[in-house]
Amino acid sequence: MEVIVLQNAEEIGAVAADAIGALLHRKPTAVLGLATGSSPMAIYDELAARFDAGMVSFAQAQAFTLDEYVGLPADHPERYWNVINAVFASRVDFAAGAVHGPDGLATDIPGACAAYEDALRDAGGVDIQILGIGTDGHVAFNEPASSLASRTRIKTLTRQTREDNARFFGGDVDAVPSHCLTQGLATIMSAAHLILVATGHRKAEAVHHLVEGPISALWPATVLQHHPHVTVLLDEDAASRLALIDYYRETYRGKPEWQDI
Ligand code: GLP
Repeated sequence: MEVIVLQNAEEIGAVAADAIGALLHRKPTAVLGLATGSSPMAIYDELAARFDAGMVSFAQAQAFTLDEYVGLPADHPERYWNVINAVFASRVDFAAGAVHGPDGLATDIPGACAAYEDALRDAGGVDIQILGIGTDGHVAFNEPASSLASRTRIKTLTRQTREDNARFFGGDVDAVPSHCLTQGLATIMSAAHLILVATGHRKAEAVHHLVEGPISALWPATVLQHHPHVTVLLDEDAASRLALIDYYRETYRGKPEWQDI
């Protein structure tokens, strides 16, 4: 796991966009994994800016979102499918049908989850997966006590996550759906490269567990310690509880020129 502490969200966005740009340059048909939440916004803004500048194209790429609320109407602005379109996909040149998400309105939920796994496999798997992290250590919507071997399935959101996300629903926690569909931890672990981004003090405890804690379903993100290629991009506040922070800084400062993230 490579831990990189940067000054702010803009620097984090630039480092992640460099990796995604390099991937698309060597593999225009790349498959990207997209996360919602506020953390990845700087990445999407940077990629959209680079697209506007003619530096990157998504025309042959595909994308898969991580998760979706169950039961939000198709036109609800907080439906993750709509969020990803608004904040990123519609700002660049993905082909029609190239952005996929689990169907939170399916009548056959297990069937929809299986179909999503099939679509991911048929696309050849995710090349770079962007991840945020919840204050309770969830990734995508894999809440504490999630199976570390889980695949795409329905989950119940914790009260903490619904309170955290109430800000997107006018501050009304009761308006936040209680169920979601989410890629499982094993699904996420199948991606070739995971880039997790976190900013702010509220993430410091979860980041501490992710990087330095024992692997436990109580802090689901800790399963990433088993992945061979994980990059964790943090600001100072999110990194503030890391015991080995000086070592991570020294490692990044001394990184060989030829080595990408
Ligand atoms: C949400 C999403 C996650 C996201 C996390 C953190 O509930 N399902 O994919 O990483 O919570 O969100 P934020 O970045 O807004 O703090």
